[in-house]
Amino acid sequence: MANRSETKRAAVLREELHRHNHAYHVLDEPSIADAEYDKLFRELQQLEESHPELRTEDSPTRRVGAPPLDSFTQVKHRVPMLSLGNAFTEEELLAWHQRLVGKLDVQDDVQLECSAEPKLDGLAVSLTYEQGVFVQGATRGDGFTGEDITANLRTLASLPLRLISKKRNPVPDLLEVRGEVFMEKTSFIALNESQQASKQKEFANPRNAAAGSLRLLDSSITASRNLSIYVYALGEVSADSAAPETHSGVLDWLQQLGFPVCDQRSVCTGPENCYSYYRQLQSRREKLPYEIDGVVFKVNELSLQQELGFVSRAPRWAIAQKFPAEEAVTVVKSVDFQIGRTGALTPVARLEPVSVGGVTVSNATLHNMDEIERKDIRVNDTVVVRRAGDVIPEVARVLIEERKQTADKKDKTKPQRRYKIKLPEACPVCGSDVEQIDDEAVARCTGGLSCIAQRKEGIKHFASRRAMDIDGLGDKLVEQLMDEGLIDRVEDLFSMDAEALEQLPRMGKKKVANLLQALEAAKKTTLARFVFALGIREVGETGAANLASHFLDIGNLRKATREELEAVTDIGPVVAGSIVEYFADKDSCNTVDALLSAGITWPTETAVPEAGEQSLAGNTYVITGTLSQMKRDEAKQLLQAMGAKVAGSVSSKTTALFAGEAAGSKLQKAEKLGVPVMDEDALRELLGLS
Ligand code: IVH
Repeated sequence: MANRSETKRAAVLREELHRHNHAYHVLDEPSIADAEYDKLFRELQQLEESHPELRTEDSPTRRVGAPPLDSFTQVKHRVPMLSLGNAFTEEELLAWHQRLVGKLDVQDDVQLECSAEPKLDGLAVSLTYEQGVFVQGATRGDGFTGEDITANLRTLASLPLRLISKKRNPVPDLLEVRGEVFMEKTSFIALNESQQASKQKEFANPRNAAAGSLRLLDSSITASRNLSIYVYALGEVSADSAAPETHSGVLDWLQQLGFPVCDQRSVCTGPENCYSYYRQLQSRREKLPYEIDGVVFKVNELSLQQELGFVSRAPRWAIAQKFPAEEAVTVVKSVDFQIGRTGALTPVARLEPVSVGGVTVSNATLHNMDEIERKDIRVNDTVVVRRAGDVIPEVARVLIEERKQTADKKDKTKPQRRYKIKLPEACPVCGSDVEQIDDEAVARCTGGLSCIAQRKEGIKHFASRRAMDIDGLGDKLVEQLMDEGLIDRVEDLFSMDAEALEQLPRMGKKKVANLLQALEAAKKTTLARFVFALGIREVGETGAANLASHFLDIGNLRKATREELEAVTDIGPVVAGSIVEYFADKDSCNTVDALLSAGITWPTETAVPEAGEQSLAGNTYVITGTLSQMKRDEAKQLLQAMGAKVAGSVSSKTTALFAGEAAGSKLQKAEKLGVPVMDEDALRELLGLS
């Protein structure tokens, strides 16, 4: 049993950790150094391990997740979780205001005061607090009964496990609040990158990612997903509550109790002001760190809300003003095939131009032939196109019912005949054969480097930020240089003539000088970057880094047999086969030789560790954020050269996280898992650089 001082210490630690957590995740004002927080966290973890009876429901240590469940239990909502009526136009919003004024016992020309908030695109949840402690969390379900996801919700860093109680603002005995769980755009991208790296299913959008992460039976996975929450409404509240009389007052009150509340909220009087809030929010929409799909207006006076009541399953006193759909209906006019760097053919639908969420879309990816078959897309079909944030628009589905109308050759107003999309037998760019290997979804042009499209894409990849990082040499310029005949192969980049470059449109002396300087600077690189830049099929950034730290030298890599290659971390038979094939090709070898003669070099000392220098063997590190004195890649290579593993994501097995400037989700995760966090100075010291 814990003695009195241990019991007291655990309570003090919980209290302090809650305070620091709130400061960091809700207020965005860190109140303690990360290492200090870790220390307190570990102290509490150790106390709880030695004395399990000290583990309370609201302990911050519970955020790391609980043992997996077999299934979720059902929770009946004390107050039903309703849906909202929608408005799509300014007229509909005006009509809503007028309806309400008509129903209320007020003068006809009164202007209603409304709380205005973003309509967050996530999942509605209900959170129950008893005596200020988070005791239960549930999904919305059918509005009457949801699922108990308490353990998952506990892992959300910004969700208060215990509310802030003040003399002037005491916490009610029972408080049920509603809010939206969502995933920030950057966390969504990072999650999909790691899903892809570990060959797991990617999520279609942040909403699906949030939903999938919340409904996991293993809450320790939820803990790694970086979910956020904003609360926006009250459920049941006990009679002792000091909740204010207006909705905006309630939101401020919830914020004081420690809840995260969206800072984009406002109060608007009358339909005109409401609509101008909507337009302003729409213009900020892309810049917000999370996805929203409209605005929710709520009558601000709670007494008026009561008077207005409900219609069917939605309150009269609230309305969702939706942003224009990010989906639109159009017609597939034709299908072209684009050739990628490795020869892969990507079918692209040429569409009747259509506005999707304010952006004109005239092309959409069809991904591959399997997708076309699965969605049964045909030329001249009427389809739904979808655009989500920055991703390439895609064809979501075909409106099959439109297909029933018969074609009439003479009558141009009648729909055209639909025909199936066929994979071309020859590459549309170079005419080489197209092959499709049975178990692969993609078809490829067999032209290799003789295909100009493949060379073009290869050069774009070579110059890209994560490869040779040639400043100023973007995709457009590569196209221009190829089209104008200034370059034909990647090695030509290093023998371009300043005078010829200056003849190009939009290329002044200064721009040319900058480009040549960038090319010169890019020659000093790392072996890992160079191997990645070659664009060998199946060899990604991590694979290239593994190959570099294993073979230490391009000569060794070129000579390597399949067996030798398969001995490298994470290199399987497919990748090994592809590397052997690459170096067996004379064309590729000429390119490598030409690039090396052009002066591409890398520091050998990073690639050749002295025997016995493997002092970091057995350690796994993660590097995040921006380092000021070296590139992350360099740090990675140096660590690897000393025998350490460098991983892409933080787990409980991580030895330490090195965090540079603007470190984000990885830092949070390391803190959550109690993984030590070190700065750049500590990294340099470890590497023997300072
Ligand atoms: S209030 C009775 N406020 O929209 C009103 N809902 O279509 C309860 N939502 O299920 C909802 N942001 O998931 C409210 N600021 C916000 C919201 C919001 C998103 C979602 C919520 C609800 C759905 C209703």
